[in-house]
Amino acid sequence: MTEPVTFYEQVGGMDTFRRLVDAFYRGVAEDEVLKPMYPEEDLGPAAERLTLFLAQYWGGPTTYGETRGHPRLRMRHMPFHVDPDARDRWLAHMRAAVDEIALPPVLEATLWDYLERAAFAMVNTFEPRGGGPQRTGRPGPGLSVRNAD
Ligand code: HEM
Repeated sequence: MTEPVTFYEQVGGMDTFRRLVDAFYRGVAEDEVLKPMYPEEDLGPAAERLTLFLAQYWGGPTTYGETRGHPRLRMRHMPFHVDPDARDRWLAHMRAAVDEIALPPVLEATLWDYLERAAFAMVNTFEPRGGGPQRTGRPGPGLSVRNAD
């Protein structure tokens, strides 16, 4: 029996995810709210992590897991002030990047639906910006950080 074709393969494999994430980080590099959130001045390593995560998520190589372990994305974003403004900026750069790679409409819709839901799920504060990193580490009562991604 032949293996089913993965979404990763359908969109064109690693090259497509690289192009997507490169375009996305070109936007982030110019963003006055998002850029300062990144601990490293060079966005290259962050771009590599996002590329490998997305590739793995969609059925490609498991390099992300081998090097970074379980994604636990909500938990990993807790040190950052991800409020609705940050989410909307993230999504605006990602939208431009998705447009740039010009996938067939059905594939594009699948990818965008996921990215939009993931970005909404990543919001961890509604407090005004400027208070520094989250002090509590928890988004509020009843929300499990561990299993949220
Ligand atoms: C909603 C707004 C978001 C903001 C402001 C944001 C911001 C950040 C920042 C500042 C980092 C640390 C950079 C690094 O060292 O890697 C990071 C890491 C990361 N983000 Fe986001 N992010 C957002 C949404 C998302 C979404 C929706 C996804 C997945 C679809 C995602 C996937 C990742 C991954 C995979 C990493 C690297 C995790 C690791 O292995 O350490 N982010 N993000």
